Amino acid sequence: MSERNFYITTPIYYVNDVPHIGHTYTSIAVDTLARYKKMCGYDAFMLTGTDEHGQKIANAAETTGLKPIELADKVNVHFRNLIKTINADIKGFVRTTDERHADVVQAVFKKMQDAGDIYLGEYEGWYCTPCEAFWTETQLGEEHLCPDCGGKTIMAKEPTYFFKMSKYQDRLLKHIEDNPRFIMPEYRKNEVVSFIKEGLKDLSVSRTSLTWGVPVPGNEKHVIYVWIDALISYISGLGYSMADDKDFNKYWSSAFHMVGKDIVRFHTVYWPTMLMSIGIEPPKTVFAHGWWTVEGKKMSKRLGNVVEPFKLIEDYGVDAVRYFLLREVSFGLDGDFSFKALKGRINSDLANDLGNLLSRSLGMVNRYFGGILPDAGEATAPEREIQKLIADTAREYHEHFNEVAFNKVLTSVWALIGRLNKYVDEMQPWVLAKDESKHARLGTVLYTLADSLRVLSHMVSPFMPDSAVKMRRQLNISENVALADEQALAETGLLKSGVKIGELVALFPRIEDK
Ligand code: ME8
Ligand code: MG
Repeated sequence: MSERNFYITTPIYYVNDVPHIGHTYTSIAVDTLARYKKMCGYDAFMLTGTDEHGQKIANAAETTGLKPIELADKVNVHFRNLIKTINADIKGFVRTTDERHADVVQAVFKKMQDAGDIYLGEYEGWYCTPCEAFWTETQLGEEHLCPDCGGKTIMAKEPTYFFKMSKYQDRLLKHIEDNPRFIMPEYRKNEVVSFIKEGLKDLSVSRTSLTWGVPVPGNEKHVIYVWIDALISYISGLGYSMADDKDFNKYWSSAFHMVGKDIVRFHTVYWPTMLMSIGIEPPKTVFAHGWWTVEGKKMSKRLGNVVEPFKLIEDYGVDAVRYFLLREVSFGLDGDFSFKALKGRINSDLANDLGNLLSRSLGMVNRYFGGILPDAGEATAPEREIQKLIADTAREYHEHFNEVAFNKVLTSVWALIGRLNKYVDEMQPWVLAKDESKHARLGTVLYTLADSLRVLSHMVSPFMPDSAVKMRRQLNISENVALADEQALAETGLLKSGVKIGELVALFPRIEDK
């Protein structure tokens, strides 16, 4: 199996509601990581999808007067549009109502049965429909509110199939211990470990009180618990147990699940033990990111403060939104969305720092060299310093990406941009231009800037793919940002001199306050 494969997933989103900034965030983060890997020469596979079964969807459908499948068909379109709108480069999209997926769910259930890990019993306890989660009496307080969302739980008493999850407790703990990158960031690990150490119970994996789901093979009175159904999308999306399972064989060992912190337990306890039961190794990494609030408040329909991605992107541009979400908060921690912060970042980081660097540098190539890129000439101390800074930045860039610290990646890149703007101010090309004897020196300065912008076009491309292409068109180089490998990012002096640059266009217009 090649080391150079990378499989990355978003959660599959519930279709009881249309996409908002939270789903947008996860999907942008996943696409950015996938694009980074692709740039470094990996074969990356991004999977996303929609979670269409379960009580929550059945209830939502009933409220809207639609059949569950009609609601799912309708909302699914919005999630597909979201993928297009954020410019995500996906390879697969799973709907849990697809027959192909349902077949895999049943096949996995059978395998768990064959392993002796499923038995019929009765569930009596509390159920939270918004979270689709079971709770025991001891996990709840007197009012029986869900520990996750704080909402009211309902009493469920029904026959159910149980999965012998308890059997895997020790193996799971050992797996977590032996694989420091299984749960990321590090600080999410403790809560999972202490949950497991409290004692893993067997998990109820079927419901009889609803019909909206995948039937248990051989006992159609039961439908498979929606979380079991949903988690299996990560392997059904690769063709696991299908006639053509080559993607599963190729990608699974590199699996990276990006999720919000709300669904860590499902991904780091239920999912790996299910996989152990059917003889598949757990995913490489489950990374849990933080939660967005909006202008200091929890996003909710009731408050009417839900940030809707389509309008946002129409107003501010896709790359600005992608950049903002990954720059504004330390990835893993919670963040607060505000329009003031968004505009601030667009005007300062994008329009001023990056946009100006490009337009002033290439503007001078036009003004002083008729648009023909001058020779690199002889590097002096400041140019050597910039070469070294590029090498250092490239190293940090990869280190931070390895920790999935998007904000740190961007901080490093913007330090380089800041240094380059300072280089322009210090070299004062407009002064050099007045002195005929300094013509070669002027050429070296502008070459250094243009070549650094080429490096920057790679560095920003996972975050802002369209803008990277715009930069490269202006530099008149191939739109393809792929590198031979990680090291190649640090190379300088690759731009060809004597070539006419492209037409200049502003990268990011400033946002004026009305
Ligand atoms: O949980 N801030 O689906 P879901 C950050 N179907 N991220 C947010 C967010 C916010 N305010 N709100 C939502 C489900 N998210 C299941 C998943 S996977 C096998 C099944 C993001 O529609 C975040 O990634 O409730 C969170 O984990 C996910 O949306 C929950 O989406
Ligand atoms: Mg949710």
